[in-house]
Amino acid sequence: MPIKYSERSRLKYSEKLIELFRNPKNVGELEDADVKVDEGSPICGDVIRLSLKIKGDRIVDAKFLSFGCAANIATGEVITEKIKGRTLDESEKITIEEVVKEVEGLPAIKMHCAVLASKALKKAIVTYRRKEKRLS
Ligand code: FES
Repeated sequence: MPIKYSERSRLKYSEKLIELFRNPKNVGELEDADVKVDEGSPICGDVIRLSLKIKGDRIVDAKFLSFGCAANIATGEVITEKIKGRTLDESEKITIEEVVKEVEGLPAIKMHCAVLASKALKKAIVTYRRKEKRLS
């Protein structure tokens, strides 16, 4: 018997968010990642791990592991989908508003879950650039 997702009725998640949460394509960890970061939320204490494969200045693959809620999984999925094939400069310009729009809105108390996913991306880009600078 399928498990009922009871949070949905209380939080009014969109159908799209529920679909992304139930069937994310990019959950996991890249073994050969060029950069891997963990980012934590000071609000809820949850963590997201993001791993990226980068060729030149372009993100060629991205995976995430969320130790958070449905909103974090859905926004992690949106971000990893959006950045695949984009340059680092293009990726760092992705805004929280864009991500929230992609999941067709978030309850106000879940905005920090999108912020967490977005902060992980920014941290991964900064970490990768620092690493590249050290190696050059
Ligand atoms: Fe912690 Fe959503 S409540 S990531």
